[in-house]
Amino acid sequence: MSKEVHVIDHPLIQHKLSLMRQKDTGTASFRQLLQEISMLMAYEVTRDMPVTLHPIETPLAEMDAPMLDGKKIVLISILRAGTAILNGMLGILPSARVGHIGLYRDPKTLVAVEYYFKVPNEMHDRDVIAVDPMLATGNSAVAAIDRIKATKPRSLKFVCLLAAPEGLAAFHEHHPDVPVYTAAVDERLNEKGYILPGLGDAGDRMFGTK
Ligand code: URA
Repeated sequence: MSKEVHVIDHPLIQHKLSLMRQKDTGTASFRQLLQEISMLMAYEVTRDMPVTLHPIETPLAEMDAPMLDGKKIVLISILRAGTAILNGMLGILPSARVGHIGLYRDPKTLVAVEYYFKVPNEMHDRDVIAVDPMLATGNSAVAAIDRIKATKPRSLKFVCLLAAPEGLAAFHEHHPDVPVYTAAVDERLNEKGYILPGLGDAGDRMFGTK
């Protein structure tokens, strides 16, 4: 049981994350920054993905060239806030398949309630990257990973932008085998389940719904 946490603290990511955290950063910039960070994170998250050799011809010679099988990769967006991470990662992984899980957080209990689930078929043959920007209480992520595991993917990783220590602990308690990739681990949750210092409500800031 590995309980892997990869904090991707490249200066470009840290800089863009700091811009996102600022309360005066508007919707368009927030969304754009999250997409840019997600592209950069995709680079790190796919670092250990297998490549296979394919015969190609360069203008000068034939060679066996390493290639990813993009169709084997499934990006699963946890709605609604996963959308911008999904879009950013698709910029780097254009052939990836896409799944969606609709979950909302009951504001009183903070428990995750599912309202939508659609993923590609033949998941046993696919490598899944599940995305949701905020690992706060961990309830949504744990519920989403439960559902994804039931489809028996070949491999599974979870990517968020920010994690709270409480969310990481809950995630690891239920899914110690699923590596977590995040740009930062913040201090703690407040009494409403928001990450501190965090960046506020990621969905509202991304979609301008506040
Ligand atoms: N979801 C958010 O959007 N922000 C938080 O701080 C916690 C959960």
